[in-house]
Amino acid sequence: MTYVLGIDIGTSGTKTILFDEKGVDISSDSKEYPLYQPEIGWAEQNPEDWWEAVVATISCAIKKSGVNIEDIKGIGLSGQMHGLVMIDKEGKVLRPSIIWCDQRTSEECDEITKAVGAERLIEITANPALTGFTASKIMWVKKHQPEIYKKTYKILLPKDYIRFMLTGEFCTEVSDASGMQLLDVPKRIWSDEVLEKLQINKDLLGKVYESQEVTGTVNKTAAMLTGLKEGTKVVGGAGDQAAGAIGNGIVRSGVISSTIGTSGVVFAHTDKVTIDKKGRVHTFCHAVPGAWHIMGVTQAAGLSLKWFKDNLCALENLNSASTGVDVYEELNKEAQSVKPGCDGLMYLPYLMGERTPHLDPYARGVFFGLTARHNKNDMLRSVMEGVGYSLVDCMDIINEMGITVDEVRASGGGGKSQVWRQIQADMFNCEVVTINSSEGPALGVAILALVGVGVYSSVIEACDIIIHKVTSQKPVNENNILYSKYHNIYKGLYTALKPEFANLNKITKG
Ligand code: XUL
Repeated sequence: MTYVLGIDIGTSGTKTILFDEKGVDISSDSKEYPLYQPEIGWAEQNPEDWWEAVVATISCAIKKSGVNIEDIKGIGLSGQMHGLVMIDKEGKVLRPSIIWCDQRTSEECDEITKAVGAERLIEITANPALTGFTASKIMWVKKHQPEIYKKTYKILLPKDYIRFMLTGEFCTEVSDASGMQLLDVPKRIWSDEVLEKLQINKDLLGKVYESQEVTGTVNKTAAMLTGLKEGTKVVGGAGDQAAGAIGNGIVRSGVISSTIGTSGVVFAHTDKVTIDKKGRVHTFCHAVPGAWHIMGVTQAAGLSLKWFKDNLCALENLNSASTGVDVYEELNKEAQSVKPGCDGLMYLPYLMGERTPHLDPYARGVFFGLTARHNKNDMLRSVMEGVGYSLVDCMDIINEMGITVDEVRASGGGGKSQVWRQIQADMFNCEVVTINSSEGPALGVAILALVGVGVYSSVIEACDIIIHKVTSQKPVNENNILYSKYHNIYKGLYTALKPEFANLNKITKG
């Protein structure tokens, strides 16, 4: 039997899973690490924390499994996208990573748009300049910390820093590289034009592979630290969204995934490059050769519910600590007890600004429509519904781009919630299903590793063998009608508040 490891270097922690060649998980381990927010809208993490977590979770997963390391033939890496890791000639990290949800770079985005030209930027990188993406973070360091920029030998994405630590190689792959805003997305290679216009030296970037290709092998030091066999193959892997999509079997048109993790993502496969001229959704290279994907992103999806749980659910948290029952199970019951629509209470999930469809780093969270009759459970359900409306915003644009939607596959932490899946089915007016694995990104990159080491001949073949549907929920027509009415108000709220979000930012920035 062949085994592979799927490693997902997420924002809250790293999860490492050992899979067999049928995609069955044999053992796993995870480890959390902190997120630093030194100023409002900033978000940083220490790459060394990711590496420590990767080392600890690989050795634990191997030990737990009892599998012979000779049989672990490959490793797939996935992780949070867009994060900027800068290292010097000795391979030392030069500053904390500025990660995907950091919003400090609106000025740099304007500068990028000016340097490349708004239309040309979208033509080449398939996206407008975005605060979340890596290019603007690089420009920020160049401007504000020139001494660090000068010492930089290589620029890496989070999972590619882990690849460097495992193999000593500096490289990336097309799906994650698409989120740097330096890749020619239609051609799947670095864009000389963008690099020149932004005056970023191409030597700072690693080689770009297709996602299932072997990019290097585990070196002696990493083998000693992790317990892996020296020489184990490491494939390209994928950014967490493309990886999650492979792990959900999103490898053909018509099947869309809706993932509620920290962020929320509606993800569609496409066989040709399709770009939204307004840049409201991202077009990236898919982790399937010759394919691309479109995705709409809600910045604070699961994060909204987590914020609510951490700040307003002391009793539920206490109960969970004493009974050992997952606190989200209790929250699901409470949300289920409230009628769809929450009697007009609505929530805008803009706790970390918003990407799709507003591209607005200054947007903030809002409860709207609160009355004395509402209680905490109403607020809880309205948080779930607010995230749902924002996913509908994404889906609407995907529809506008001519992509058909036959089935939605729910995944991520939010996909485990029956009530949240029903909210989505009712809002999308479409069947929402779950599949036989909830390990999205880790399974996705394990599938890429299985292809890379030759167990399967293609990503599509592997997905067809490994992934099956297990649950299905149909939309309820009357709920869909109600949600459509509320969604119109929801959209109007952002338009009305947009100038005030900007005014608020001026005051809080000082
Ligand atoms: C995708 C994105 C998030 C992060 C963190 O564009 O920003 O999915 O990768 O999960």
